[in-house]
Amino acid sequence: MDRVVKSVDKQAIAGAFGRAASKYDTVAKLQQQTGEYLMALAQVENIGMRVLDAGCGTGFFSARWKQQGKQVIALDLASGMLSHAKGQQVADYYLQGDIEHLGLADNSVDLCFSNLAVQWCNDLPCALREFYRVTRPGGLIVFSTLAQGSLNELEAAWERVDDYRHINQFLSLGTITQACQPYRYKVINREYHQHYSQLLPLLNSLKRIGATHLHHGRQQGLMTRKRLNILAEAYPRNNGNYPLSYQIAFGVIYCDK
Ligand SMILES: C[S@@+](CC[C@H](N)C(=O)[O-])C[C@H]1O[C@@H](n2cnc3c(N)ncnc32)[C@H](O)[C@@H]1O
Repeated sequence: MDRVVKSVDKQAIAGAFGRAASKYDTVAKLQQQTGEYLMALAQVENIGMRVLDAGCGTGFFSARWKQQGKQVIALDLASGMLSHAKGQQVADYYLQGDIEHLGLADNSVDLCFSNLAVQWCNDLPCALREFYRVTRPGGLIVFSTLAQGSLNELEAAWERVDDYRHINQFLSLGTITQACQPYRYKVINREYHQHYSQLLPLLNSLKRIGATHLHHGRQQGLMTRKRLNILAEAYPRNNGNYPLSYQIAFGVIYCDK
């Protein structure tokens, strides 16, 4: 059984994402794919004007909602991400804050949109309660999150190199589904695959999107040339390439309150 409640170092997460802000959009291809799918899920419903982009990052999707004429609140934990978003004028309001304690009034938004952010929270049920609280009756919550099985090739390779944990443990699809059960919901699971011809760009892309931050403990050992070679040897290949898989859970919650 998963531990639903984690203990994450939010300052460290905000720092890692803040540092990633300037190059984030050029490498965040997975986020862009999942975000497009999440937008499509929301657009099936007749949503209103006020959109909260919770864990907005650079505001890539805040801008997309704004282009559609919505009034957008861009919220993120990382001041670095938020100032990048502000610089691009992606939203109408900018709020530095924590998804688990939203500084917004009850029933204040029509749509709560959160793409690949809640996996960084301590407690998924708490994050969903906050989303539900701030969304008006009849409104909609859509979120995506990394699920167990993500980055499993990299995890398997590291296991053959040393005994340290290098990859975050993500919640299982069952646990994510369970967190939605207090509400009327649907959960969709999709698999995404990336392929790299070299290992270093794969590792750098994870670093640039902030995905290497560990919830518990520190990353062990410097990445020397020798270690990189050992890891590359241990990495399962596919036609000579280094595959990287992501299991993404998409949740839709209907605010029937
Ligand atoms: C992987 S990025 C996704 C950014 C954006 N949603 C996108 O689709 O490009 C995750 C973002 O969530 C933010 N984040 C992580 N934990 C958060 C929390 N508890 N509250 C608010 N934002 C958080 C990070 O600072 C980061 O900008």
